Amino acid sequence: MRYIYPDKDDKMTKEGIIQKVGEKYWDASERRVLNKIKKNVGKGSLWIDLGAGEGRLTSFFAPLFNKTYAIEPDKKRTSKIKQNVKLINSSAEKAKIKKNSVDFILISHVLQHIPQERWTIILGKCKSWLKKEGKLVIFYAKSESKKDYGVISYLDSKNKIIDKEYSLDEFKKRLKKNKRIHSTLKLTQKNFRNFIQKNNFEIIDHGGYHIRNLKKISKVSMKLAIIIESFIDYLKLNGGVDAYLIAKKK
Ligand SMILES: C[S@@+](CC[C@H](N)C(=O)[O-])C[C@H]1O[C@@H](n2cnc3c(N)ncnc32)[C@H](O)[C@@H]1O
Repeated sequence: MRYIYPDKDDKMTKEGIIQKVGEKYWDASERRVLNKIKKNVGKGSLWIDLGAGEGRLTSFFAPLFNKTYAIEPDKKRTSKIKQNVKLINSSAEKAKIKKNSVDFILISHVLQHIPQERWTIILGKCKSWLKKEGKLVIFYAKSESKKDYGVISYLDSKNKIIDKEYSLDEFKKRLKKNKRIHSTLKLTQKNFRNFIQKNNFEIIDHGGYHIRNLKKISKVSMKLAIIIESFIDYLKLNGGVDAYLIAKKK
């Protein structure tokens, strides 16, 4: 069956960004994290944007590598991605890439929309594709409490986003009943980290960003908001609605 990503034109995602942290701070905060990752991954011959979507981040990393592959199962979403990128219209689970050939894999806001049982398959694939010192970078929406939970999002009749939070059991049941819903699995940073380590990756760096409380400060001074965010990240305090993780093969 052809896969169609349930959040058409990223409508729900965009609305969520505005509500949570505001669009401008969201962009500046992500840019801070992207620059940090850029320094960490360096240059190389091949990288993969896994779950590339509309290619939002493809052009950021492409100039650092000789070749770029964008893996995306929903063909309609890749129409804006440039010609010099090799498009692979497939899920990560079914994609075929040469072993030990990849310098860097980016999985940005993808795993959270896939049932956790399949994460092991995806991480196994990444492990086999990466070179010995290759880097895996994951961005994900994290739990904002001390437990893991799932969120199911809908658009109501007035196109307003409704986010409903469920316990993990209830979340799984609802996903089984309807595979087309927009779902987001939110693990705590600790549990996410443990999962990645159990799948034979060594964590190089891991931190939060997009901090709700900085929304107001960013409206007064974006520079100050980013300085505070960097400091929170430096101290490894558990802030933010999103997290980044940089890892390599064990
Ligand atoms: C929230 S979007 C993120 C897009 C982009 N990476 C970004 O950060 O803007 C999630 C993307 O993951 C893709 N996706 C869903 N299941 C996937 C799978 N099994 N393998 C690869 N990509 C998948 C979706 O089609 C969608 O384009």
